[in-house]
Amino acid sequence: KVVAVIMVGGPTKGTRFRPLSLNIPKPLFPLAGQPMVHHPISACKRIPNLAHVYLIGFYEEREFALYVSSISNELKVPVRYLKEEKPHGSAGGLNNFSDLIMEDNPSHILVLNCDVCCSFPLPEMLEAHKKYGGMGTILVIKVSAESAYQFGELVADPVTKELLHYTEKPETFVSDLINCGVYIFTPHIFTAIQGVSTQRKDRANLRRLSSFEALQSTTRSTPTNFVRLDQDILSPLAGKKQLYTYETLDFWEQIKTPGMSLKCSALYLAQFRFAYPHLLAGGDGIKSASIVGDVYIHPSAKVHPSAKIGPNVSISANARIGAGARLISCIILDDVEIKENAVVIHAIVGWKSSIGRWSRVQASGDYNAKLGITILGEAVTVEDEVVVINSIVLPNKTLNVSVQEEIIL
Ligand code: GDD
Repeated sequence: KVVAVIMVGGPTKGTRFRPLSLNIPKPLFPLAGQPMVHHPISACKRIPNLAHVYLIGFYEEREFALYVSSISNELKVPVRYLKEEKPHGSAGGLNNFSDLIMEDNPSHILVLNCDVCCSFPLPEMLEAHKKYGGMGTILVIKVSAESAYQFGELVADPVTKELLHYTEKPETFVSDLINCGVYIFTPHIFTAIQGVSTQRKDRANLRRLSSFEALQSTTRSTPTNFVRLDQDILSPLAGKKQLYTYETLDFWEQIKTPGMSLKCSALYLAQFRFAYPHLLAGGDGIKSASIVGDVYIHPSAKVHPSAKIGPNVSISANARIGAGARLISCIILDDVEIKENAVVIHAIVGWKSSIGRWSRVQASGDYNAKLGITILGEAVTVEDEVVVINSIVLPNKTLNVSVQEEIIL
């Protein structure tokens, strides 16, 4: 049997995702019309004998209750949210629930970060993992040397694929091969995590015995049950024939900012074109608006036949798109109204917002720049004939004049 664990973090993380994370936990923000966490969960479903999917985080349980019950029914695999009282680090969080995870007596445990976007080649990775015979296999990818510092950089044996060296977000360049945040472990991972905690406890005790210096250092040092998968487990185990790597040649991105969510929405829509074409608009002939490229439209949304939509557009529940509207590269959230002849390009339009007639909400589309996409928070009103360019507008604002490169608080 196999158990999957998705690390979802909590409200104190994901701050770069504001203002969108003010309304919804980041893991539930829709990409290609599905909650972010839905993509890794449905990838796990491709593994035979999947017994359970656990989401581990420190958000309130009620925020995930609706989602986990509906996805359990849909996938016919029990999905449960497990709440940590406080953050224990990615490995500490996993270890907290080791007894529960081991109840299914799994031979393998999949561990996935929720904020990565990729094709999750899990069946292929599991096969490679079994062949290597180690305790864990890490999904890795080659990125540009300039961007590698944002991730865990690693060196692998070109022939055996063994992980030889691992450094988390190094200051000086180590390698352009990086950690994708997708792992397959045997249950021995728990022994390794508990080993690190015990070592920490022993050291703390020693310090306490040695001198009054202890008083100062115990307050400063990391709590013994805070263990990070990358720094505390991968780094020390590199080069010990226990960890191996599986390189993906497919797409991979990290989703820390709203700009990246727009880019990842496009990647998932493109994947739907091959994997689930029935989810895309235009395929069924029901939506009569003119559709360009990959577009997702929720069945409850109303789109005027003279609107032109796409590419890379996701329209959520109960949105209304008026006559002559033009939408390109955007995410339109629930209950939004876009009035006649409005234009939306490279933007995220928050829940219940409204965009007036002949208005334009747009940006340059540089997904990595702070103001590279325009974001309207919840319940923002853009009045008729107003132009909003490269700006972020916080919830509940009304714009009656045009703005450019501004953050409206
Ligand atoms: N439950 C829980 N508890 N989840 C956590 C905690 C915790 O205490 N801390 C982090 N997470 C979750 C986050 O929500 C995220 O999904 C994942 O664990 C990793 O988050 P971070 O530890 O903040 O690391 P990161 O995202 O900056 O970098 C990691 O992922 C990169 C790939 O996206 C590292 O492993 C990098 O090496 C890697 O390249």
